[in-house]
This record gives sequence, structure tokens and C-alpha cells, in this order.
Amino acid sequence: MRVLLLGGGGREHAIGWKLAASPHLDHLVAAPGNLGLASVAEIVPSVAAEDVAAVVALAGQRDIDLVVVGPEQPLAAGVVDALSREGIAAFGPTADSARLESSKSYAKQVMKRAGVTSPLSIILQGSAAAGAGGMMLELVGPPYVVKADGLAAGKGVLVTEDLDAAVAWVGDCAAGRFGEAGNTVVIEEHLAGREVSVFAICDGITAVPLQPARDYKRLGDGDTGPNTGGMGCYSPVDDLPTDLVDRAMGEVIAPVLGTLAAEGTPYRGFLYAGLMLTDDGLRVLEFNCRLGDPETQVVLPRLEDDLLPLLADAATGKLAAGDLRWSRRAAVDVVLAAAGYPGPVVAGDPISGLDRVDDDVLVFHAGTRDDGDRLVTGGGRVLNLVGIGADITAARAAAYVAAETVDFPGKQYRKDIASG
Ligand code: AMP
Ligand code: GLY
Repeated sequence: MRVLLLGGGGREHAIGWKLAASPHLDHLVAAPGNLGLASVAEIVPSVAAEDVAAVVALAGQRDIDLVVVGPEQPLAAGVVDALSREGIAAFGPTADSARLESSKSYAKQVMKRAGVTSPLSIILQGSAAAGAGGMMLELVGPPYVVKADGLAAGKGVLVTEDLDAAVAWVGDCAAGRFGEAGNTVVIEEHLAGREVSVFAICDGITAVPLQPARDYKRLGDGDTGPNTGGMGCYSPVDDLPTDLVDRAMGEVIAPVLGTLAAEGTPYRGFLYAGLMLTDDGLRVLEFNCRLGDPETQVVLPRLEDDLLPLLADAATGKLAAGDLRWSRRAAVDVVLAAAGYPGPVVAGDPISGLDRVDDDVLVFHAGTRDDGDRLVTGGGRVLNLVGIGADITAARAAAYVAAETVDFPGKQYRKDIASG
């Protein structure tokens, strides 16, 4: 099978690495890909994942059998719709279905129709948000949760005790700080509990669960500082109820799939639910229409089954229900980020020490670049160092040895990934 993988982050490197292990793979193309993917795929840096016309043309030129979409932007831009019109199989939701992620207000409406519980919320539009936001926040009370409606790379959410900061965030959203994402603002009830990310492979009707992972979204140790795309994660998550996956499938994934199918917009692709385990049960904080980054980097190394036939079957509506086989080994990912992340970063700093990383540690590239014969930083999240071990303690130790070995100026990483 000839596969085109879209995207160029750490998640896509992990997906490409897993696809490359498939005996069914004849050729892997990655667009735009990254330096890590270059070791398992033909990379086409000139084609951006969200350039729909260029992706369709590339798939035709390379005689592609299946397109696998990593990030959300190409999905929201309609890449699956365009490929389907050309008769090219693609794994990922249509632009319409991808609104589960690209519009938090749309996701709220779908959950309501599906009977899925999520935090209570108030949705405010544009200028009304700036006007009424403060009053609404005072009514709701602290801690305040304010979210930009659309895609904001995990950075459009503020959780704070500070009313002034919350009011300012609403104002920033309404004033377009998050671009189009900010036109609609969601003020949400604050929930306390443990968070976990769950994922399913969906073919429109059938869903097969992946193993959960726990992500660390805040920049600083002890969950301090701004929200990021994710600073690290681990799997398996041992403090979860043993029936968590079954409950998530029964209470969240299946009702959403059933509702969307009944409404004529069946959902195909990865479905990611960010859940809060509260004293009152599971609550959905967000849906994503793709796998998590960095969660993929710890989930796929534990998957013993071949990913490629699963995605090919799901893309063509033929996914068989059932459970997948998982390694009992643990995986811990420590993300190395550039100085300034999650704000603007300076690229081009030389990266050292990768040649001294233990062979058992998986290195997934995110924001790296080739500068002549040197490897340099080229993005906010730079590298994922994934330790694998008999248990979380061993995996964590391996990841941190690597995180200390690899270096670049201004390197930032959390010291408390997987430590409870
Ligand atoms: P989201 O992008 O919607 O998942 O939000 C980013 C992070 O903000 C989540 O992972 C939570 O840690 C936090 N968060 C979001 N919504 C809530 C909520 N309603 N209550 C408490 N924390 C939340
Ligand atoms: N790590 C969070 C996300 O991928 O959305």
C-alpha cells in the first residue's frame, strides 16, 4: 500500500514510524514531513498539509492508496472532502465533522443532542462577548474558564482565579487575538478532577479504542504557567478506573458517533476526547478530530497491532469492532521546547547530544531543521524524548536521562512528567 501522511510534528513522526513497521506498507510519503520522518518516508517539504489542492495533486502524482491526516488544520480546510471527490481514500473526518474540534460551540451542541455530559457553558458572540463577558464571569464565579471557540493550537484556553485576567481574555478573544478562532467565546463551569485523553479509531459507525494517555498542558512544573500544546505525557495511566475505556466508549464516543451518523454526517477518523473524571462522572472538556500531540508518541509505541490495516479499513467504512493488543511496557514522553514557547520562539539554535541518547529511547522530531550539517531548532516544541520501560518509573528515568543529554540554548522542559 502507498500511503501519504500529512503533517510535520512529533505526532506525525510517531505515526510515520508506526506505519513504517507495517508489512503492508510499500511506500510512505510525508508532506511536509520533518527531519525525523525523513528516515522512514519520502518527505515533500514543499507541500503544506493544509494546501488542499497541492495535497490532492501530490496524492495523484505518487499513486497514493491511502492518505492519513495528522493535524487538524487540513481537516478543517476540507482535505478529506477534496480527496474523496477524486476517489482517493483518506483517513480523517470531513470539514463538516471536523467542527467537533474546530468549533467548541458546535461540539457542545452535538454533545447535547447525543446526551453526553460536558461542563455547563455560556456562548457569547463577537462584540456581545466583550460587553457581557465580565457580568457573566461574575455570575459564574471563580475559578474562571474562558475559551476561544475555534482552532488555537491548545493556546486559546484560560483557567484562572483572577477575574480581571478572565475579563481581559474574553476581550482579547473578541478583539481577534486568536484570529477567526476568537469571534465566539465560551465561558465554562470549572470542573475539578483528574484529566485523561482517550482516543478511538472510527469508521462512521464502528469505533475501536486506543489506550488512554495523560498529557501535561501547562508549561511549568506543578501545572503552572500558560497552556501549551502539551509538554509531555505518559501511558498507561494507572490511576484510572479499570472500566474507564469502556465507559468512555459507551458514554461518550458511541453516542456521538451514533448521533452524527443518524444526522447524515458520519464521523470517520481519530476521535480524541479530553475527559475530566469528576466525582459526578465523566465530563468532556474537548473533542479533537485527530490524535493528540504528544499523546500519540506514547500510545503508538505500546500498540502491538499493525496500524495501517486499521486506518485503511476505517477510511473505507470496514473497521472490525474489537480490542487491540497492547504492550504492558510503559512510555513517558518529555517534550523539549524552545525558549519563548508557547509564545514566539527564535529558531536556528544548534541541538547537541542526540548521538548520546540511549538506543532504547525513541526520539520523535517536532520543530527541528537542517542547517548545513547541523541540526538546529525550528519550532516551539522541538523534540520528544520517549523513554520505554517495564513500568512508568523506568520509562520516566530513561526519558529524563535523554532530556538532560540533549541540549540547545534556552531549552525548556517540565521536570515532573509522569511523577504523579
Ligand atoms: P481544552 O483545550 O478545552 O482541553 O482546555 C485546556 C485545558 O484547560 C484542559 O486540559 C484543562 O486542564 C483546562 N480546562 C479546560 N476546561 C476546563 C474546565 N471546564 N474546568 C477545569 N479545567 C478546564
Ligand atoms: N496534547 C493535546 C492535544 O493534542 O490537543
